[in-house]
Amino acid sequence: MAQRLFGRVPLFLGFLLSTVALVLPYQVQGNAFRHYRVEKEERCDFYEGSWVLDTSYPLYDASTNCPSIIGQGFDCLKNGRPDTDYLSYRWKPSRCDLPSFDGRKFLERNRGKKIMFVGDSISNNMWQSLTCMLHSAVPDSKFTFINQTKNLLSFSFQEYGAEIMWLKNGFLVDLVKDKDKKRILKLDSISSGDKWKAVDTLIFNTYHWWTHTGATQTWDYFQVGSEIIKDMDHMEAYKIGLTTWAKWVDSNIDPSKTKVFFQGIAASHVDGKGCLGSSHPEQGPEPAYPGVDIVKSVLRNMSIAVHLLDITFMTQLRIDGHPSIFTGRGASYVDCSHWCLAGAPDSWNELLYAALLDN
Ligand SMILES: *[C@@H]1O[C@H](CO)[C@@H](O)[C@H](O)[C@H]1NC(C)=O
Ligand SMILES: *[C@@H]1O[C@H](CO)[C@@H](O)[C@H](O)[C@H]1NC(C)=O
Repeated sequence: MAQRLFGRVPLFLGFLLSTVALVLPYQVQGNAFRHYRVEKEERCDFYEGSWVLDTSYPLYDASTNCPSIIGQGFDCLKNGRPDTDYLSYRWKPSRCDLPSFDGRKFLERNRGKKIMFVGDSISNNMWQSLTCMLHSAVPDSKFTFINQTKNLLSFSFQEYGAEIMWLKNGFLVDLVKDKDKKRILKLDSISSGDKWKAVDTLIFNTYHWWTHTGATQTWDYFQVGSEIIKDMDHMEAYKIGLTTWAKWVDSNIDPSKTKVFFQGIAASHVDGKGCLGSSHPEQGPEPAYPGVDIVKSVLRNMSIAVHLLDITFMTQLRIDGHPSIFTGRGASYVDCSHWCLAGAPDSWNELLYAALLDN
């Protein structure tokens, strides 16, 4: 109640109260200060901010702190990237600071819990980052790292009974083959959702595969109900597919048991001038990014609260954060979609950490 009241008092009165708080005895002051902090956090948009150089970053050395976690394509330093500033940018919200990442505390909070990332290779990028951030926080703690199936990676910290998983799934809705081996993307069907159950924290993502056309497109037809559709606007298809996912979550997830996040769209820099040779973030502002409105609108319409990790703007700025020609595949291959590790995905996990601490 007090907190609520405080949130509504006019600015000058709020200032007066927080000033008064400074001269109150310690106990009371501590309390008042806490309320002030809560009020401030409510006003702080974590996703509005800028990248600042911070020499205490990176949080880990991908080659030495995280044995076999970081795939070859993401360890840009090892792949010969000569500039290093990209390793040391910290995301700084304009009106507050993100809590600094404490891997032990994260594991403590997730004792006996399962965390699962479900999505494409950008989801894998974030999973690798989190796994590495946690492992490097407790390097002597026993772990197991296994391929449970072709599409499911699992990293467990035995001492904590905590398991961090990545389940590969590019569309979230079903991609099936018909009798003629044609690939059909069924926009209104999810048959693999059982794998998403019995998990404590789910972090979904889907986007990039929907934008593919021509040779990189991984389906031949769309299907909705019994209707087969040769082609339609891919963003329209994305909206239908994402809505199907939202309905699945609404009817299968108990929000008192499971926290659900949506990893927002990570900007790619494939188009236009590309990312080759970029060694510093852009300053912004940035144009609206395709698909973001769809994500926000679908999430808003859900009956359970899904926390959007709204990473689009921050990644639009990070033109320097991609592997570019440092993927280990030679200079003819330029990757402006994925992210170097250490790098930008570490900040996405700082945002995840901040959100998990909050509730
Ligand atoms: C899991 O399997 C894939 C190929 O199926 C392989 O590339 C990868 O190295 C394996 N990962 C682990 C952790 O064993
Ligand atoms: C969300 O609901 C509003 C109001 O019913 C509707 O206009 C909008 O199209 C919905 N968004 C999506 C993505 O379905």
